[in-house]
Amino acid sequence: MLQNKTLNVPQHVAIIMDGNGRWAKQKGRMRIFGHKNGVRAVQEAVRYATKMGVRVLTLYAFSSENWNRPAKEVSALMLLFMQALEKQSHELHKNNIRLKIIGDRSRFSEKLQNKIKQVEKLTENNTALVLNVAANYGGRWDILQAAKKLAIAYDGGEVALDNVTEDDFQKYLVTENAPPVDLLIRTSGEQRLSNFLLWQAAYAELFFTDVLWPDFTEQVFHQAVINFQQRERRFGGS
Ligand code: FPP
Repeated sequence: MLQNKTLNVPQHVAIIMDGNGRWAKQKGRMRIFGHKNGVRAVQEAVRYATKMGVRVLTLYAFSSENWNRPAKEVSALMLLFMQALEKQSHELHKNNIRLKIIGDRSRFSEKLQNKIKQVEKLTENNTALVLNVAANYGGRWDILQAAKKLAIAYDGGEVALDNVTEDDFQKYLVTENAPPVDLLIRTSGEQRLSNFLLWQAAYAELFFTDVLWPDFTEQVFHQAVINFQQRERRFGGS
């Protein structure tokens, strides 16, 4: 196993967790069965990231477009988030992990919004890993909400536009002070960004695997990290 202290471990890893539906279908089960098994893969990813010394792990759990799925699937997913928050919050806290739900929460039930606030408060001072769960998130929405916040600050005379740098702008994004995404993983063979972290992943190394999300393990994550470490990153330089 590589050691994080001496080797180049990605500081910020983002994952598009894809393929739950197909995994369930292969087994002749309902899609929600795939999502339920996806929760186990989330635990596996979090465990590995913590062990390797990744600072920020951002998971795409529910995109703004996912509301277009059948109502039954959407409500089952909401229930699953609620149950995962209830079951996992103490485990996360015990492991010194800070949980943040990033995205537009206004469409979530009041009960879910309150639960989110409670878990975020419980874990806010934890330092081992920041776990961002993107829920009702879209990259364009994120950039737009940041631009609106900047406009409000400008209106209030708090900023002078001429001096606003990319670094300043970044702080208005929902990921706030997270370092840029170094490694972005997508499972299930699809090779798209799907409106995830558009600003933050500008220079991310991309890793695609055919593994369906419920089958994602520490070994697959490790393979992605090894692959990342073999890449030469130039950030537009030569
Ligand atoms: C993509 O598979 C997966 C989702 C849209 C939901 C992700 C949710 C989880 C992994 C469970 C809970 C997560 C947390 C953070 C507690 P898909 O349904 O698009 O699969 P398909 O492409 O095969 O149809």
